[in-house]
Amino acid sequence: MKHIQAAGGLDVPVIVLGCMRISDMKVSEVAALVDAAVESGVTFFDHADIYGGGKSEEVFGQAVKKTPGLREKIIVQSKCGIRKGMFDFSREHILASVDGSLKRLGMDYLDVLLLHRPDTLMEPDEVAAAFDTLHAAGKVKHFGVSNQNPWQMELLKTSVKQPLLFNQLQMSVMFTGMVDAGFNVNMKNPPSVDHDGGILPYCQLQGVTVQAWSPYQYGFFEGPFVGNKKFPKLNKALEEVGEAHGISASAVASAWLLRHPVKMQVVLGTTKAERVRDIAKAADITLTREEWYRLYLAAGNELP
Ligand SMILES: NC(=O)c1ccc[n+]([C@@H]2O[C@H](COP(=O)([O-])OP(=O)(O)OC[C@H]3O[C@@H](n4cnc5c(N)ncnc54)[C@H](OP(=O)(O)O)[C@@H]3O)[C@@H](O)[C@H]2O)c1
Repeated sequence: MKHIQAAGGLDVPVIVLGCMRISDMKVSEVAALVDAAVESGVTFFDHADIYGGGKSEEVFGQAVKKTPGLREKIIVQSKCGIRKGMFDFSREHILASVDGSLKRLGMDYLDVLLLHRPDTLMEPDEVAAAFDTLHAAGKVKHFGVSNQNPWQMELLKTSVKQPLLFNQLQMSVMFTGMVDAGFNVNMKNPPSVDHDGGILPYCQLQGVTVQAWSPYQYGFFEGPFVGNKKFPKLNKALEEVGEAHGISASAVASAWLLRHPVKMQVVLGTTKAERVRDIAKAADITLTREEWYRLYLAAGNELP
């Protein structure tokens, strides 16, 4: 498994297992999934306080406990800040959320905490106070954000002392807004609309690691695109590029993300051990420039 150095020197694998969809699985099934991930080098796990209403963290914590010493060998990340009907980056909510996550996980620290989705009522000083308290208490080692644009990160940095190592953002070969805007600078066509404030080059400039969420979904959770008859051209290209490298079409979709020169991790949402083993092979492959552009175009994108 290929690793990268996140800012601050934290060593992380380029493939992460996201745990949003594990809440209804049995502890033994989650344990088998976690074992397959760790054996494949996928030692980084992504959670949020809200996944499965807290059940994802609970079942994951119980699964990890089955293997003595496993907790210290893995990186556990969780997220906070989404509440019913609002986003909440208040000091009280951040502290309470982390305590809740730790309790459900049955762990005494998180390796990484991300702020889940921007709260426009955020006071940077409050976030800073919460991060200081969590860091000093040994409850959270590293921090980052999710779904934020560069100005939101800069605003946080006016108060927060700890480096913001990660920004978790939606990206896949079928969800390319962050690259489309870059291709279409100074154009008037729909892909020129910059929804993200230039976050990709910002992360590259600042050494922030992008964690691509929903790497296999088209739209907003509309379904997987690999093997989907709605996208014959893309699937043909994924298959052919896969054959050239001896990996599956699914693995090619992750290799496409990992080809971007920003520090990149792919956050898989699969619940299947077999798929984790298969997709992990993407980490050892570097697509050519021709292959990367072929897949981008086959997904229905156009270049100006
Ligand atoms: N920061 C945020 O706002 C945010 C938002 C959403 C998600 N996330 C994180 O990102 C993670 C991934 O999100 P996601 O679950 O939407 O990701 P995904 O990997 O794009 O989708 C996974 C789903 O696709 C299915 N699937 C079908 N065919 C597949 C194939 N060929 N390859 C891979 N998967 C296939 C999987 O089914 P099987 O289980 O049967 O394999 C699973 O249900 C989440 O677990 C969470 O940690 C973060």
